[in-house]
Amino acid sequence: MDSYRSQFNRSIEQPEAFWAEQARRIPWFQPPTTILEYDDTGHARWFVDGELNICHAALDFHVEQGRGDQPAIYWDSPVTDSKRTITFGEMRDQVALFAGALKGLGVEKGDRVVIYMPMVPEALVAMYACARLGAVHSVVFGGFAPHELSVRIEDAEPKVVVAASCGIEVDRVLPYKPIIDKAIEQSTYKPQACVIFQREQQRAELGARDHDWSALMSEAQPAGCVAMKASDPLYVLYTSGTTGKPKGVVRDTGGYAVALHYSMDVIYDVAPGDVFFSASDVGWVVGHSYIVYAPLLRGCTTVVYEGKPVMTPDAGAFWRLIEAYGVKSFFTAPTAFRAIKKQDPDGKLLAQYDISCLKALFLAGERLDPPTYHWLDDLLEVPVLDHWWQTETGWPIAANLQGLEPMPTKAGSATVPVPGFNVQILGRDGQQVGAMRQGSVVIKQPMPPGCLIGIWSDPQRFHDAYMAAFPGYYLTGDGGYIDEDGYLFILGRTDDVINVAGHRLSTGEMEEVVGAHRAVAECAVIGIHDALKGQVPVGLVIPKDGFNGDEAQLEKELIDLVRNRIGPVACFKQVLVVDKLPKTRSGKILRKLLRNIADGKEFGIPSTIDDPASLQDVHDAMRERSLGLAHEARQV
Ligand code: COA
Ligand code: AMP
Repeated sequence: MDSYRSQFNRSIEQPEAFWAEQARRIPWFQPPTTILEYDDTGHARWFVDGELNICHAALDFHVEQGRGDQPAIYWDSPVTDSKRTITFGEMRDQVALFAGALKGLGVEKGDRVVIYMPMVPEALVAMYACARLGAVHSVVFGGFAPHELSVRIEDAEPKVVVAASCGIEVDRVLPYKPIIDKAIEQSTYKPQACVIFQREQQRAELGARDHDWSALMSEAQPAGCVAMKASDPLYVLYTSGTTGKPKGVVRDTGGYAVALHYSMDVIYDVAPGDVFFSASDVGWVVGHSYIVYAPLLRGCTTVVYEGKPVMTPDAGAFWRLIEAYGVKSFFTAPTAFRAIKKQDPDGKLLAQYDISCLKALFLAGERLDPPTYHWLDDLLEVPVLDHWWQTETGWPIAANLQGLEPMPTKAGSATVPVPGFNVQILGRDGQQVGAMRQGSVVIKQPMPPGCLIGIWSDPQRFHDAYMAAFPGYYLTGDGGYIDEDGYLFILGRTDDVINVAGHRLSTGEMEEVVGAHRAVAECAVIGIHDALKGQVPVGLVIPKDGFNGDEAQLEKELIDLVRNRIGPVACFKQVLVVDKLPKTRSGKILRKLLRNIADGKEFGIPSTIDDPASLQDVHDAMRERSLGLAHEARQV
């Protein structure tokens, strides 16, 4: 077997030869002859003249190979008390029919389809049906409010919206239809049709533009797989950037399929027939890559879980699922285990289950904090593995590669760069820094297959956000360092993106919402440490002259505003009314300093500060309200 080092070196020194070899893993209609090209910004494009269909590679191909009766999906939904097993054969047939239904509504190759669905198998059917037709899907997470959905509809201009009648949270049923209607009303672009999958928990009343999922399926003719160029877009997934407008990350088809297949082998060490469980949501990149596409591409069974780590019904839910479905490889966010640890600190519920099938636990979405790592490492007999990636890359940048060469873990590190990712740490001057020195984490071009190919409808933004800072390198937006053994430590974002319960959010966007309130003169939203969710946002607000002084009322209004505009997932629940915000003499709010104070770090008073007293005010106000770790912050 190859060692990690030899495979990594080959991927960097001979990227074309290395990825041409990996490309043979998947079934192409027309294998690529051009392996690597660069776009105008110097960003890599892979396999451009190859032809395939990812739905064919994940479903039809496996049926042809004799896997038709193997489960493709185990759906487990404690919130509706339902379970279903769907084989590869059944899934292919469902997908072909729904593709036929979409075709009947006029959807063709290149058209966009927005999908707003909870964790039901029909979400996967809808995504694969788009892929089958060559339509570009854009899945929107159910925790986003109508405004967020409308922004995505406006940008993606979908011909059709596919939705469920409702989603189900622990304590409530959430009707989706009013959210969709409101989003379409707010958007100047109007989709031609909506397809509604009716759920018994809350059926939706259908209007003139709406079609019932089951009725369409009963009349549809199955559609075949359309040949796609490897570089054709498979999906657009919106993610938070530093401004109010989310970024539509565009994924290609061929590079993505190759990268995912490779990762299932070398990172996750799963083979056809194994069961893979990723406890995320189809609305996030983890869901796209490791619930929907990668497991089926590899011929594995994927577990689709409509429930929470706790409360559905208890903190033993994950252990139950692992035992019930014989899960070999399990993936979730550290915040889920912090929630479990809170409710079952000694891990007693684990004793009720036999999880000997499990070979490794993978965590990502945010840094695996050392206390959670140690708790899991003590509790479990399998490796507990942090790995680091982002919506943009689509698959892990750094990991402990279980199928290639498992390595000793180090708490706080995502281990080593995955073959294909030439990760470097650069200082402000753009020069590489030495071991143990912190800097910007960048990826030297060519980035491997599977990563974003652009920002939907905004090529300039792609260049500005990722390629402009250090020519020849992709800017990840994370800071970190590499130690003497080559282990990568990610320390956090260097921009206005925060990570709340494994969900990526923009403080810039929240500031835009808060700043629009009639009583707010100025504001800053920062992410502060939270023991359960990793980070939560806090708004620091200066009211306008003439404000009536009812701070409690203002705080409530601002909290409601963010919830209604961005959604409950923003977790915006704390507002602090202050007299002044620390600023430079040129008027720039010192956000990094505010974050340091909130996170209990030592802070100095910068020479550029306009009014040093403002810093102490904010510090004292945070301490008084016990926000973050401000009580530990010390002026030096
Ligand atoms: N649809 C509608 N609302 C949703 C939602 C969805 N799909 N997901 C979350 N929400 C709502 C929640 O109900 C909650 O509402 P509330 O303010 O009325 O309580 C709010 O959004 C915040 O949700 P969340 O941050 O998830 O908090 P929680 O207390 O409900 O759950 C955890 C906490 C840790 C259990 C949960 O966040 C979790 O499982 N996180 C893992 C995240 C993950 O898998 N990320 C993907 C990357 S791997
Ligand atoms: P998302 O695009 O939602 O996957 O969020 C990506 C961001 O989450 C990264 O840029 C990091 O800031 C953070 N992140 C994800 N996984 C990790 C990890 N394993 N360690 C540290 N940060 C992580």
